[in-house]
Amino acid sequence: MRLILQALLHSLFFSAISAAAISPGSTLFASNKNQSWLSPNKTFSLHFIPVQPPTSPPSFIAAIVFSGGVPIIWSAGNGASVDEFGSLQFLSTGSLRLVNGSGATVWDSGTSNMGVSFASLGDDGNLVLSNGTGIVFSSFENPTDTIVPYQNFTVGKVLKSGLYSFKMQSNLGNLVLSWNGSVSYWDKRVNSSLNGSLTWPVLRIQQTGVLSIHDPNLTSSTIVSYSSDHAEGSDVLRILRLDNDGNLRIYSSSRGSGSETIRWAAIEDQCEVFGYCGKYGICSYKNLIPICKCPSQNFEMIDPNDNRKGCKRIVELENCQGKIEMLQLDHALIFSYPPIPIFSANPEVLYIPNHACRANCLGSDSCFASTSLSDGTGICYIKNVDDLISGYQNAALLSTSYVKVCGPLAPNPPPFLETRKCNDWGKHAWIIVVLVLGTILAFIAFESGFWLWCRRNRMRLRGLSGHYALLEYASSALVQVSYEELYQATMGFREKLGAGPFGAVYRGVLADTIVAVKQLEGIEQGERQLTMDVAAISSTHHVNLVKLIAFCFEGHRRYLVYEFIREGSLDRFLFESEDQQGKLLNWECRFNIALGIARGILYLHEEC
Ligand SMILES: *[C@@H]1O[C@H](CO)[C@@H](O)[C@H](O)[C@H]1NC(C)=O
Ligand SMILES: *[C@@H]1O[C@H](CO)[C@@H](O)[C@H](O)[C@H]1NC(C)=O
Ligand SMILES: *[C@@H]1O[C@H](CO)[C@@H](O)[C@H](O)[C@H]1NC(C)=O
Ligand SMILES: *[C@@H]1O[C@H](CO)[C@@H](O)[C@H](O)[C@H]1NC(C)=O
Ligand SMILES: *[C@@H]1O[C@H](CO)[C@@H](O)[C@H](O)[C@H]1NC(C)=O
Ligand SMILES: *[C@@H]1O[C@H](CO)[C@@H](O)[C@H](O)[C@H]1NC(C)=O
Ligand SMILES: *[C@@H]1O[C@H](CO)[C@@H](O)[C@H](O)[C@H]1NC(C)=O
Ligand SMILES: *[C@@H]1O[C@H](CO)[C@@H](O)[C@H](O)[C@H]1NC(C)=O
Ligand SMILES: *[C@@H]1O[C@H](CO)[C@@H](O)[C@H](O)[C@H]1NC(C)=O
Repeated sequence: MRLILQALLHSLFFSAISAAAISPGSTLFASNKNQSWLSPNKTFSLHFIPVQPPTSPPSFIAAIVFSGGVPIIWSAGNGASVDEFGSLQFLSTGSLRLVNGSGATVWDSGTSNMGVSFASLGDDGNLVLSNGTGIVFSSFENPTDTIVPYQNFTVGKVLKSGLYSFKMQSNLGNLVLSWNGSVSYWDKRVNSSLNGSLTWPVLRIQQTGVLSIHDPNLTSSTIVSYSSDHAEGSDVLRILRLDNDGNLRIYSSSRGSGSETIRWAAIEDQCEVFGYCGKYGICSYKNLIPICKCPSQNFEMIDPNDNRKGCKRIVELENCQGKIEMLQLDHALIFSYPPIPIFSANPEVLYIPNHACRANCLGSDSCFASTSLSDGTGICYIKNVDDLISGYQNAALLSTSYVKVCGPLAPNPPPFLETRKCNDWGKHAWIIVVLVLGTILAFIAFESGFWLWCRRNRMRLRGLSGHYALLEYASSALVQVSYEELYQATMGFREKLGAGPFGAVYRGVLADTIVAVKQLEGIEQGERQLTMDVAAISSTHHVNLVKLIAFCFEGHRRYLVYEFIREGSLDRFLFESEDQQGKLLNWECRFNIALGIARGILYLHEEC
């Protein structure tokens, strides 16, 4: 009886602590889906999961996952996979080892013979190998691509994902994303006055979704960013992850939901992530999703199954039997390796017009590509090294690029695919010209025919209304544009010009015109009323009033598009500030401006 009780007590005790402590000799098998090492309250578990997307034959990674299966917060050997006969072994020597079916060691914690007596997985997600008095190894100290709340990310630690890495630079507390260990494409200096004065900076993602830097020399933490669902919900895990597309993001996931949502990204415009499309790959957007293509059919994909691997010339330049030509890419920019600093006395930066930028490269044996900025600066970048990494093509980019290829020039793929509106616009413009030269009757017939056709094809109306809108735009009437068009026009609301009382204002390019896109927030009016108001505003025309060009009302997304005033806000010319010294207006000029404003107001109140 006593023996049975003892055995019962022992097994009770053992199973109670086995949830927290894992003893040497324990093994997880990739083939057994039921096996896992759990944290005490089951918030996290360590087990094998199939590699996504599934491979054939199947392969598995040993990972710590949040309740519900998502997100993965750590994996043995940072994503190293084994076949279905693989296992994760906690050896009696004290090391944790990922072993392939063949018996080959894929990853090892390197802790054998260091006195490790047990392992445990905490409710914070930290996998710890302990010698009874101290921690010999922990997953928090050896992060893979993710950090979680309570984890300290310090100088010397690195998050890795493919060729990309993320780290905090020594004592400056600034955060850097880099490609292949050499090219930094994102650098966040948290506070320039902290330069070098930090002793032990720590980056943390707080449970509420605040990403912040802490240091003994700081009285309060410095905030890097907030997740968009900051402090919402009660049982939500928020993590910071370096994704394999080179972007650093905050995700949130509710317990047990099995799903995660992006709440912040370091680089809003994915096409700006260095090397995203690989060598000679050109990044652009299709339905707001970044896609990678080759510059033209003079190129082919290195891996047809993975368009992010980049492209190569079908005929290399040194093997070219025909004529070497320059392939023209409109609205395109090519990043270089390493990036050429703008405004530097660099031999690869010339100040010449567009056609010379092309000819200069064609005439030079060492040049492989060039980019001419069409923004009035006349800057021409010459790429003299044949390892051009990724380009970016977007209707809003004011630049033209040229790539040297072995002729004859093969056609480019349609540059912006279905989302590109201005391409078809040429066709429609031609129709319009014919019609205007023809009879008004024909014009009306076309208009009403088009209208009827649109009505019958309601499903496709949204895309087409874009074309139609651009036609109207050309005739200077107010147009309605879609959110997607605005997103493209502003390259993902990237360049913020300032903030007004109702929301932010962004720079954009719509139908080759520079515009200011103004966001409307917190306006209670219904769409119908708002449309009527906008129509009323648009009918005003006065030299002293900024012209309203277009609008977008899609649910809560409300934007007004105005003509762009190059000089910026007037206050910069009225009040003294650091960057505007010497540019202040004299009193005569101020008087004239005041008069102009008064005329504008008079027009609004009395005349229009
Ligand atoms: C896993 O659990 C299921 C049901 O709980 C059981 O039918 C199956 O045999 C188990 N598999 C292994 C490999 O133990
Ligand atoms: C694991 O074994 C499989 C075949 O059993 C092999 O294809 C794979 O390359 C091995 N992986 C490693 C990392 O050794
Ligand atoms: C599990 O433990 C963690 C950390 O102690 C705590 O934040 C969480 O609320 C607990 N969850 C449950 C379901 O008890
Ligand atoms: C246990 O590990 C800690 C941290 O590595 C170390 O300081 C301590 O001396 C070790 N204790 C024993 C008994 O080995
Ligand atoms: C993180 O650092 C703080 C001190 O800044 C420390 O109190 C805490 O225990 C550390 N957390 C972990 C998991 O090491
Ligand atoms: C990354 O850098 C290494 C040398 O540091 C170089 O050999 C390798 O080719 C680079 N990778 C790519 C894709 O350029
Ligand atoms: C930067 O740090 C200094 C000193 O800690 C502090 O006074 C200042 O307010 C900080 N600036 C910002 C923008 O956080
Ligand atoms: C920051 O430190 C660097 C080198 O340590 C120095 O060149 C730079 O002037 C410093 N900047 C500020 C704002 O203190
Ligand atoms: C940072 O703190 C340490 C100790 O708290 C102190 O010795 C050092 O002078 C401080 N450094 C600065 C730049 O304030």
